[in-house]
Amino acid sequence: MNPQKVSAADIILTGDRTTGPLHLGHYIGSLKNRVVLQDVCQQFLLLADAQALTDNMGNYVKVRDNVLQVALDYLAVGIDPTKSTIFIQSLVPELSELSSYYLNLVTVARLERNPTIKDEIKLRGFERDIPAGFLTYPAAQAADITAFKATVVPVGADQVPMIEQTNEIVRRFNNSVEREVLVEARALVPEHGARLPGIDGKAKMSKSLGNSLTLSASADEIRQAVKMMFTDPNHLRVEDPGQVEGNVVFTYLDAFDSDQEAVEDLKQRYRHGGLGDMVIKRRLEACLQELLEPIRARREAFAQDPAQVMALLKQGTARARETAAKTLAEVKDAMGLSYF
Ligand code: TRP
Repeated sequence: MNPQKVSAADIILTGDRTTGPLHLGHYIGSLKNRVVLQDVCQQFLLLADAQALTDNMGNYVKVRDNVLQVALDYLAVGIDPTKSTIFIQSLVPELSELSSYYLNLVTVARLERNPTIKDEIKLRGFERDIPAGFLTYPAAQAADITAFKATVVPVGADQVPMIEQTNEIVRRFNNSVEREVLVEARALVPEHGARLPGIDGKAKMSKSLGNSLTLSASADEIRQAVKMMFTDPNHLRVEDPGQVEGNVVFTYLDAFDSDQEAVEDLKQRYRHGGLGDMVIKRRLEACLQELLEPIRARREAFAQDPAQVMALLKQGTARARETAAKTLAEVKDAMGLSYF
């Protein structure tokens, strides 16, 4: 994504479901930019525990415990709670209230056609037994975004249909009340478009697939992960020409090595033959160790005092709630629901 496209007048909202610790895919896809963007404009970061429950009611302890873990990941990468407002979704009931009105502006058929929902239903094997809260979470996500009058939503490419559906709700609402109460938002998607693949080369890095490297990984886990990483299966001897495309080590070097000229040079030598996998792996390992070492250290420092982190979340939530309450009041007023 190109953070330059964001200006001081923009308002950012984005968030993460609290189902597990964040990993390198989150870092490259979103967290890194949030650190930059918090100096550009107002930024709200949502710990989406309520949304996580839409398919995790049986795992509410996990959802609850990961609120702190995701908050620690935010702080560890350099998100500054004095610049960004970090808040807990379930503690802002105005969001569910907004969502309940938005549900009247979407059809079940439209929800079922939402590509993100369709994919997720398949992935989770719900078939016809879809929790209603899950099917309707696009309306809840529209509430998250519009409550803050967000204009920019940094997300992965898979979330773009969510923003489209949000904007449909915005237009329908404004049309029906004949007032510009709600604001449309644009998705800010990582520039390369593609997601960071898992360390096994599978399309997506995901905790549940067991192919991720978390931001809190130890030096040893990083070493092991790089060691296991896929390269070119036909590159058997050092002198053989190797393939760069689809080679996970090179995909990661593209994402994490700050010296892209050196990476181009390595690619040429690899294609030509004569460059061993060990050399590129050693370089990648050094990059990842250098990136994650300070993140891990900061995470450990914050983790020493969880009460203090929770206090930060409490403050952020109070600030977020004020904004959401204001929007809700405008929405209700526009619908004539101001009785006294
Ligand atoms: N659906 C997002 C995810 O799965 C999390 C999320 C919840 C979100 N509410 C949001 C993202 C609002 C952007 C805007 O990662």
